[in-house]
Amino acid sequence: MVLSDKHRETTTYDAILNAGPPIDLLAKDFVTPIELFFVRNHAGIPQVDVDAFRLTVDGKVSKPLTLTLAEIREKFTWKTLVATMQCAGNRRKELVNYHPIDDGLAWGIEAIGTAEWGGVPLREVLEAAGADLDALHIAFLGLDKIGIGDDAPGFGGSIQMSKALSSEVMLVLEMNGEPLPLPHGGPLRVVVPGYVGARSVKWLHRITVQDEPSDNKFQQIGYKLFPPSISAETVDYAQGMMLTKLPVNSVIVRPQDRNLLRAGKVVVEGYAMSDGEHEISWIDVSADGGQTWQRADFLQAPQLWTWQLWRTEFELAQGQYELVVRAWDTAANSQPETIASVWNFKGYVNNAWHRVNVTVK
Ligand code: MTE
Repeated sequence: MVLSDKHRETTTYDAILNAGPPIDLLAKDFVTPIELFFVRNHAGIPQVDVDAFRLTVDGKVSKPLTLTLAEIREKFTWKTLVATMQCAGNRRKELVNYHPIDDGLAWGIEAIGTAEWGGVPLREVLEAAGADLDALHIAFLGLDKIGIGDDAPGFGGSIQMSKALSSEVMLVLEMNGEPLPLPHGGPLRVVVPGYVGARSVKWLHRITVQDEPSDNKFQQIGYKLFPPSISAETVDYAQGMMLTKLPVNSVIVRPQDRNLLRAGKVVVEGYAMSDGEHEISWIDVSADGGQTWQRADFLQAPQLWTWQLWRTEFELAQGQYELVVRAWDTAANSQPETIASVWNFKGYVNNAWHRVNVTVK
């Protein structure tokens, strides 16, 4: 769904807004236009009074801070970074089709987008607060209300101190040169490139330096990974892996599953993504279900923190074809072959080989 102007002009929503672009328009541009950038919200969008807004930085700090939006802009080094945001639930639909999953949105391949983020390094803000750099975690809290009542907690999460001090982690006020739109966390969010989208907390109003991961339910219960053998009945949430880095992934965007194509030259294109620290180094595409492969062309030079758009062509006669893609990054990480080996009952980080079945007439 493309967000209408009406949605974008409204400042509060009764319903929870979740939306992604039509696949026809997905990954057409390296930088995703805002109106085509997926939105993932766990609660209604909060109404934020930008004049009254303050960011609090507290916890293990020697100089706790309360900063206005203007102070965040003025006191720290302004920078822009092009980075891809991908939801941990991207490609959940394929997992659901394999085996039922009770929870979460059945995203196809559209819960991903790339933006030019404008803001300031989180590291500088932590330094200004005199953060204890030996503390282990940085927790973020949003202004949205998860549940009912004024004291309902916001959406939250945390990252390790080592990641928080990395230059790519930013407090963001602008997206593609515009003030950060409300559905994407305006006026302020953190962006944690290379990590699952859940750590990029929107409507950010509190940063806490602490030794434990966030106790927010989206850190302690949500966004935890379990092996295929664990179910909702057998789970012990304390044993789950808190999701951080994205695994190597690649997806065929065009053609789409069950498309009818004309015999002759068939163009296959899509995106690939890694943990951002390692660029995509190779993309293999098959037109025979993975028996033989050819290397795809990159549509732009590989770059840290962003997706890799790619394209290749096949000469196809009439018949049924299973198109498949798999990628490697520069650390030799790749993708598992089967959905069965990545299925997990929360439906996160599906990076199995991506398959699309088409008919050529
Ligand atoms: N931050 C808050 N406060 N509330 C949320 O529901 N959703 C998270 C993250 N930050 C969320 C949040 C999830 S799961 C994702 S994938 C990204 O925001 C999506 O960011 P976007 O809506 O700008 O694409």
